[in-house]
Amino acid sequence: MSTLAVYPGSFDPVTNGHVDIIARGGQLFDRIIVAILINAEKAPLFTIDERVEIARAVFKNQRNVEVDTFDGLLVDYMERRQANVIVRGLRAVSDFEFEFQMALMNQRLKPQIETVFMMPAEQYTYISSRLIKEVFALGGRVQGLVPELVEQRLREKGLAKNA
Ligand code: PNS
Repeated sequence: MSTLAVYPGSFDPVTNGHVDIIARGGQLFDRIIVAILINAEKAPLFTIDERVEIARAVFKNQRNVEVDTFDGLLVDYMERRQANVIVRGLRAVSDFEFEFQMALMNQRLKPQIETVFMMPAEQYTYISSRLIKEVFALGGRVQGLVPELVEQRLREKGLAKNA
């Protein structure tokens, strides 16, 4: 039986932590879908089309990785795609409570779906999309923390203090 995993999230924007989880997940599962939630935040920095375009470019060389969007319940999307595993990255203990709640709620909604938590490489454990946006907007360096394309797109948004 082949395992189709879904890595859901806002990905606003993709960070090297996400890239690391996908690299690890791509080794474990036959196929993995990066599923970007439409309207995850009321005011995302990148539109859904921009997030999809960036993710497709970043993962273009990984043949078993697909980028898609979803709205509504994640478990309903999983059922439509006939996927059986949810992948979520766990960075620190602080992530755990929310992730634990989501995993158990998803398990209650669809008991046959499993959530698998994966740890990124240590150097990415403090990165989040929210911090990347904040640091960049205030003129800090995010080099090495996000793919080059994301850095370029952040610059194009013109929100850096010293861009
Ligand atoms: O990157 P994020 O913002 O932490 O991802 C959160 C996400 C998209 C995984 C979560 O909000 C989600 O699954 N939303 C879809 C709606 C849903 O199924 N909600 C119930 C989850 S228990």
